[in-house]
Amino acid sequence: MTCNILVGGAWGDEGKGKCITYLCNNDKPDIIARAGVGPNAGHSVEFNGEKYGLRLTPSGFVHTGAKLMIGAGVLVNPDVLFKEFEDLKKYNVKERMCVDPRCAIISNDHMERDKSSEHLAKKIGSTGSGCGPANSDRVLRTIDLAQDIPELEGYITDVSLACNETLDEGGDVFIEGSQGFALSLYYGSYPYVTSKDTTASTFAADVGVGPTKVDEVINVFKSYISRVGEGPFPTEMSQKEAEDHGWEEYGVVTGRRRRIGYFDMDLAKESCRINGATQIALTCVDKLYPDCARTQDYSDLSVESKAFIEDIQSATGVPVTIISTGPDLNDTIDLRKELL
Ligand code: GTP
Ligand code: IMP
Ligand code: MG
Repeated sequence: MTCNILVGGAWGDEGKGKCITYLCNNDKPDIIARAGVGPNAGHSVEFNGEKYGLRLTPSGFVHTGAKLMIGAGVLVNPDVLFKEFEDLKKYNVKERMCVDPRCAIISNDHMERDKSSEHLAKKIGSTGSGCGPANSDRVLRTIDLAQDIPELEGYITDVSLACNETLDEGGDVFIEGSQGFALSLYYGSYPYVTSKDTTASTFAADVGVGPTKVDEVINVFKSYISRVGEGPFPTEMSQKEAEDHGWEEYGVVTGRRRRIGYFDMDLAKESCRINGATQIALTCVDKLYPDCARTQDYSDLSVESKAFIEDIQSATGVPVTIISTGPDLNDTIDLRKELL
């Protein structure tokens, strides 16, 4: 019986998609449950030479033996979900998907309000996916729930009950968080944040699993930082500097150019503390240290990259168990057996 939660350590886009794909393909949990805000997220998954951009479907879909679930705390846009069923047809995503009846539903009106709001679209730089207005209607208790939507009828499942029963029967549940610590409504750089808390405790609540059931919290950091949208960014560099490093990035959902900065140890420490992280996954080590590209054995990493990893461990007090050195699942150093 194992219940693991994966969270983003900074402003999202830390490479959670790759880490989740690796961990689910390797550990083969019975249930992969999506937590977090909703379809404002964009996760990139590369598997068997193909690339997918996901907004609602759990990134662990490549493990075809798992049930895929969307927890009650997550906002659902049925159009986004049905499009992903089409895009992921060969993985039988539609047949494996379960949606909690208590998920709130994003309507066209929520998206319009998000895109046309000076405050959300311009000042905060929201994704325009309707999540802010939908969570606001949820708090006002005026929003529709998944149980009210006839098109979702075939997918409705009590996700909390399913996850807890699986754990009680000795099965494994993997909870996928989205966004990142610094976008949390409570702990991020308010008001330049998303419309909900984005830490591990909330992700557990999103799928209806209590804190006493959680075994591991895996906090994902990229070796540098990116941020989309407005707000403070202490380690930000110029666009020219980012290009010179080869760190130019564009968002999966909005196509916006991401702001880029150096790794922030103070942010990493706070993020590990508030998430109660038990492990760190570090991605894009090859982009910081090109001589580490595709390295699959810890002993083959450069002295500089090992020193960086050790600095993160000693500052946060959390072991770096997963090191990603390229987009392919094989480009992963998995130290869990050695370190845990
Ligand atoms: P999350 O939102 O955290 O899931 O990140 P993301 O998927 O939004 O990140 P992004 O859209 O920037 O995609 C990351 C890209 O980098 C994807 O194509 C991944 O396959 C790829 N990638 C992931 N990890 C690594 C890595 O360690 N090295 C390199 N070179 N690429 C990586
Ligand atoms: P919203 O969540 O669409 O309201 O956007 C609020 C802020 O959070 C904006 O700065 C967005 O760019 C950011 N944001 C929301 N979701 C993500 C994500 O998955 N990755 C990166 N930034 C995000
Ligand atoms: Mg992303």
